Amino acid sequence: MLAGLIWTGTLSFLASADDFRPTFHFVPQQNWMNEPNGLIKIGSTWHLFFQHNPTAPVWGNLVWGHATSTNLVNWEHKPVALGNENGIQSFTGTSYYDVANISGLGTQDNPPYLAYYTGYFPNSGVQDQRLAFSVDQGATWTKFAGNPIISQTQEAPHDITGGLETRDPKVFFHDATKKWIMILAHGGQNKMTFWTSSDAKSWTWQNDFTLGDVPGLPSDVKGWEVPDFFPLAVEGSTDKKWVMLNTPAQGSPAGGNGVFGITGSFDGTVFKADPVDPATMWLDYGRDFDGALSWENVPAADGRRIISSVMNSYGDKPPTKTWKGMLSFPRTLKLKKIGEKLRFLQLPVEELGAASTSVTRLTNQTLTSQQTLLSDVHGRALDIRISFIPSAGSKLSLSVRRGGSEETVISYAQSGGILSVDRRASGDISWDPAAGGIHSVALSPNASGVVHLRALVDECSVEVYGGEGEVVISDLIFPATASDGLSLTISGGDADLHEVQVLKVSL
Ligand SMILES: *[C@@H]1O[C@H](CO)[C@@H](O)[C@H](O)[C@H]1NC(C)=O
Ligand SMILES: *[C@@H]1O[C@H](CO)[C@@H](O)[C@H](O)[C@H]1NC(C)=O
Ligand SMILES: *[C@@H]1O[C@H](CO)[C@@H](O)[C@H](O)[C@H]1NC(C)=O
Repeated sequence: MLAGLIWTGTLSFLASADDFRPTFHFVPQQNWMNEPNGLIKIGSTWHLFFQHNPTAPVWGNLVWGHATSTNLVNWEHKPVALGNENGIQSFTGTSYYDVANISGLGTQDNPPYLAYYTGYFPNSGVQDQRLAFSVDQGATWTKFAGNPIISQTQEAPHDITGGLETRDPKVFFHDATKKWIMILAHGGQNKMTFWTSSDAKSWTWQNDFTLGDVPGLPSDVKGWEVPDFFPLAVEGSTDKKWVMLNTPAQGSPAGGNGVFGITGSFDGTVFKADPVDPATMWLDYGRDFDGALSWENVPAADGRRIISSVMNSYGDKPPTKTWKGMLSFPRTLKLKKIGEKLRFLQLPVEELGAASTSVTRLTNQTLTSQQTLLSDVHGRALDIRISFIPSAGSKLSLSVRRGGSEETVISYAQSGGILSVDRRASGDISWDPAAGGIHSVALSPNASGVVHLRALVDECSVEVYGGEGEVVISDLIFPATASDGLSLTISGGDADLHEVQVLKVSL
């Protein structure tokens, strides 16, 4: 039991023989996962809960799986936190620390951690809202005896489906108004509802937040789900914005589910959204970033807002057998004004550094179209950083997971400033019509003309960060184990390489 429950990483030579199991990304020990749930830090432990089918590698029979980490890199598998009992499945939700024991579910000396989730009745299709709590620092969770805390009957007047598709509670305590706030998504609709509570258990509807409340949002962005909502400082100023994260089912840049962010102000009842810019609202331009949530209860001394999502928007089609669905590598989320625009900045958490060893570093070198760099470097779990000034008309290409006719090409075209990930030759793309293709986004050099790229490669994925993290492209890839080569080339001009560094990640 014990040894089986501990995630020890995977010997790299076995990795894709072992079903593409990644090195530094979390995947369920077996079977299915979709988006993360209830992310919370308790003491020195990062808790990850996730939508999990413990009995098959397909969606269904959903519970909250559980894993913990002290560094967001090494994860230890734990028993199921919220099960599927009496025919009620545990759908997505969030956690919060009830530090003042307002719910009365703990004691003053040992306040409770609360987990809000959607109860799903597969026979009737009913979705209602439920509460569980932990008084042992998140190790075990007890379902509240008074569930549901919001019944389908209470949801019905506020939902066109009569409350049948009302889900994904985001709950937090709002200090300024001393009220608990819940945000619910309304499946298949462009709508969230805001609810408040004074005791964290009984809830009152306050208002709807819909498409018309988000100036500038393209109307093809449809089917809002998995809300997150939190205040975030604007870097380099004393401003704060409230941020809503939202996973629509349609309208994302690469198709499939995507995640966009909205900034605005919040008075404890009404979220007043700033106009969104369709060119900068998406958190990811790849196909595989879906259902993002952030860790709550991160100490102020740390101060980071860290988000993660599931990498998979193709259901059970990806060609892994023993597991399905992978957590994106945790990223910090910041807000910063670049030029005239407020941008979301994301970067991998710095904890990755402790698991990484530099294998190559080049500095101050011109890359010409006659050269190929990095061809002596091999690896399937890598952190690659490149900063360069491209000449006019040039296109720099970093090829990863290269071997035989396979390669995944990360490129930057100076003209137009286009960052792309090309999966057309990435390996097995036969399992879904959307498994190949090219995903692109505009990325400007910084004010000194320098382009920064960072790519995390891990067995079956690439996550490519541009600039200070103002754009990200995350995609699954399924190359042969033997395809572990790299190359760095340029066409149509040359580049002044400031720095190229390749780090190998091993746990
Ligand atoms: C915490 O909850 C317990 C159990 O209901 C209750 O006895 C206690 O008074 C509560 N403490 C506070 C500070 O509300
Ligand atoms: C690269 O060039 C810059 C500017 O010329 C210089 O400051 C830096 O020390 C150089 N780095 C290395 C590693 O040579
Ligand atoms: C652009 O990036 C380079 C290389 O990292 C850095 O030295 C420079 O300070 C950056 N310029 C600005 C304006 O941020």
